[in-house]
Amino acid sequence: MSSQKLQTKILNEEFVQLDLSKYQSKVSAIHHHLETTKDEPTGWLNAPLEDNSELVKRIIEIANEIKLNADVLVVVGIGGSYLGAKAIQEALTPYFGTHPNGIEVIYAGQNLSGAYINQLLRSLTNKRVYVNVISKSGSTMEPALAFRVLRQYMEERYGDEAVQRIIVTTDPEKGLLNHMAEKHNYRTFDIPQNIGGRYSVLTPVGLLPIAVAGIDIKELLNGAKQAAIELKEDSLEKNEAYRYATIRHELYNQGYKVEMLASFEPGLASFHEWWKQLFGESEGKDKKGILPVTSNFSTDLHSIGQFIQEGSPILFETLLHFEGISEDYIVPYDVRNEDLLNYLNDRSFNEINCISKKGTAKAHADGGVPVIQLELQQLDEYYFGYLIYFFMKACAMSAYLMEVNPFDQPGVEAYKKEIKELLSIDNINLDDTVSINI
Ligand code: PA5
Repeated sequence: MSSQKLQTKILNEEFVQLDLSKYQSKVSAIHHHLETTKDEPTGWLNAPLEDNSELVKRIIEIANEIKLNADVLVVVGIGGSYLGAKAIQEALTPYFGTHPNGIEVIYAGQNLSGAYINQLLRSLTNKRVYVNVISKSGSTMEPALAFRVLRQYMEERYGDEAVQRIIVTTDPEKGLLNHMAEKHNYRTFDIPQNIGGRYSVLTPVGLLPIAVAGIDIKELLNGAKQAAIELKEDSLEKNEAYRYATIRHELYNQGYKVEMLASFEPGLASFHEWWKQLFGESEGKDKKGILPVTSNFSTDLHSIGQFIQEGSPILFETLLHFEGISEDYIVPYDVRNEDLLNYLNDRSFNEINCISKKGTAKAHADGGVPVIQLELQQLDEYYFGYLIYFFMKACAMSAYLMEVNPFDQPGVEAYKKEIKELLSIDNINLDDTVSINI
């Protein structure tokens, strides 16, 4: 076992036969490709090791300005341009109310619901507002439509001051949003050209919204940096990300076509969604790929638990385990004991949750479901930064092991093309620097 900050364990190794050593030479070749390629958007690989102090300083400055002058930040984006921020925000801010160092952050442009945008606008009444629109292409339909609405709202409400209250995060050189920002003097953050959407959470795409939500982005980046240092080796014995990637690849080859990521802390639900996009969009192509699905336990043990235990043997489970959770609650004594729960008196909710985790993992493992456990010490900024980098690196390796490109998404274009035809937008005149990316 390595001494890294994240440990990958297989809980039922006795009947999950995994000979990983046969993948070592392929893993080494892919590792070399990832480290040396100039043709793929791999900027996220070494970004945590580079000096980013100026960027972080500017993000914190603007986040402070927003916190001072707004009650709510509306983040407009979809896919890789919003899932990461929402994931980190929900995992590291209180379940109810806002973080003591932050303000409310809400999301728009991730759906086409008229009711949603209408109600979102109504919710802004009596609140001071800033908007951060995030789109790498600058023309994805959902965020573009939401931004059209929100821009008009901001202009009607704030007049000339709206320019100060709209922050644009986009490609530094091209795209409709880049053009609009230049024309109207919006302040901008760049999405590096060598980092694709679903690998961009540790750029201003994720960092500005979560800094506004009150999260310590320096600690998050420190965690990612530690991961970038620890996960630099090609050896399967020393690199936990490659080990996880190889385990899931071998399980796929053994017929397990579905991976269920599960955890026992409800605040991780949106993180699961980020993970689902990362692996689903990176790996699901050429009629290959592991279907990423997610569960929140113990909630979903009462819905999907039966299938996991006794249904079609198509899935393996990856459990996220954080040793330390900052808050807890002790089960109170009740003299009436009508619910017969006094036997749990003095035990804490987290303790019971942990026992439930152990029991679930054992039941699933004994039932024949391969169970991988990813173990980290603490659910905090540092370990979260580590985990994000870990998954991105594992995902790139995993996709290459499957011999698909981790960085494109040609299949997403198919549905976009259909919508484009149905909405008849072929006749729009565009100059050669912009394109419509519905
Ligand atoms: O991972 C990706 O590249 C996609 O999920 C994009 O993030 C998503 O389609 C949004 O694209 P954009 O940022 O160009 O609006």
